[in-house]
Amino acid sequence: MTGATLARLAAEAGRPEPPDKRPVVCIQGLGFVGAAMSVAVASARGADGEPRFTVIGVDLPTDHGRSRIGALNAGRFPIATTDASLERAMDEAHAAGNLLATADTTAYALASVCVVDVPLDLEDRHGSPALAIGAFRNAIRTLSDQIGPECLVLVETTVPPGACERVVLPELERGFRRRGIRAKPLVAHCYERVMPGPRYLESIVNFWRVYAGLTPEAAQAAERFLSCFINVRDYPLTRVGSTTASETGKLLENSYRATTIAFMEEWGRFAEANGIDLFEVIDAIRLRPTHSNMRQPGFGVGGYCLTKDPLFAWLSSQELLGRADLDFPFSRMAVEANHAMPLVSLDRIQELLGGALEGCRILLLGVSYQAGVGDTRYSPSETFVRAARERGATVTWHDPMVDHWYEMNEQGPRELPGAAGSDVVVLAVAHLEYTQVDLTAWLGDERPLIFDANRVLSDVQRRQVAEAGCRFASIGRGDT
Ligand SMILES: NC(=O)c1ccc[n+]([C@@H]2O[C@H](COP(=O)([O-])OP(=O)(O)OC[C@H]3O[C@@H](n4cnc5c(N)ncnc54)[C@H](O)[C@@H]3O)[C@@H](O)[C@H]2O)c1
Repeated sequence: MTGATLARLAAEAGRPEPPDKRPVVCIQGLGFVGAAMSVAVASARGADGEPRFTVIGVDLPTDHGRSRIGALNAGRFPIATTDASLERAMDEAHAAGNLLATADTTAYALASVCVVDVPLDLEDRHGSPALAIGAFRNAIRTLSDQIGPECLVLVETTVPPGACERVVLPELERGFRRRGIRAKPLVAHCYERVMPGPRYLESIVNFWRVYAGLTPEAAQAAERFLSCFINVRDYPLTRVGSTTASETGKLLENSYRATTIAFMEEWGRFAEANGIDLFEVIDAIRLRPTHSNMRQPGFGVGGYCLTKDPLFAWLSSQELLGRADLDFPFSRMAVEANHAMPLVSLDRIQELLGGALEGCRILLLGVSYQAGVGDTRYSPSETFVRAARERGATVTWHDPMVDHWYEMNEQGPRELPGAAGSDVVVLAVAHLEYTQVDLTAWLGDERPLIFDANRVLSDVQRRQVAEAGCRFASIGRGDT
């Protein structure tokens, strides 16, 4: 393949050629993070009101990658979103013509900054979790074949501590040596806190960031770049002492959250057993400022981050840092407890139905891992559905954000189905469609068991269920 020029990439993308005086930013990986980052960076404006950067999003030439590339080039955000401001910013970037996407890796040669937003997964090795670092390493190797000596590589991927020093830098150095480049690669780490949902774009541009560079020059370059599209006046950046510290920040943040969620599960069961409304108790406790963000029991923890991140420091200690003696019992227990949480709901439903699920017809409302998002990766609903079917239940589902449930390879109905034909209705995700539905009308003459697994229903809706004469139970409340 010949070297990239903006003219060629733009022509292949079916886009007008952007002026070549602007610095080019390549975003590697156009998933939940990279697609939104592409729009956020493309939205940066200089004092003259003109775009500061030409952004090139790069993904793999797979079906998945190509569909994201095609969507961005057509001016569509490639992921279902409830964030109107992100859709607007996407429209503006398309109209301004400073965002294009490609699978052509020679694009990296044009970049002043490459932002790494590819995944880094866990894998199962002989029955135990292990770091699946190979794909991440390959992504960095691709950069090392293309980038210029001055290009800043800004890693946003959630990585095991030590990865920038022990994986990213050596890969880039090897590539530079191969190509006869003598410069030291510029590497920085700045983790993402993006929250897909109604404030998707805001969670990038109006939010605090933590970062570090492998060298002071890299840290400086990262700070300059981040300050171009993040509102650093209101959300100042925090520089920490090393990339390993920055990498650790992301993992500690998510491990803390996962652990405090897991901790609430035993209290939920205690409340259910003793006729206590734990949400009422938690709301009272949250008034105390030191406890204002106390977690609550629910259906389970899903998504791509909290399910894996708490294991990274432990695995990195073994695989990258040479400290296999360091253990992380709380973090590991949290991952296990959170993974098993949807089975607490299932067991409870089974108990309410007299001990067996054989032949039971369950309607599951919500299969994404969080309200307002369409991401189904590691969703607790998947664990629930698989286990319920194994126990002989029939499960149908609906999710306003999900048409095709990729992990289950199933298609869901577009409209909320009625309650007819269901013995149990499980409310698993607090999507607006469910929190706002008039249950009196929706139930009609049907009287299934209503199971609120995730504090989805309001007081009014719970009254509607009671007035209809349905059996009702919920996680965290002893109100069967
Ligand atoms: N999803 C979130 O809410 C979130 C929040 C904060 C941090 N993160 C972290 O950000 C990283 C990315 O997560 P995501 O949710 O965007 O993942 P994703 O799976 O949605 O997207 C990753 C994209 O990278 C592409 N890709 C893989 N290898 C590539 C390569 N070599 N070159 C170009 N593209 C490549 C994939 O095809 C895919 O489109 C992860 O480390 C994740 O833990 C995610």
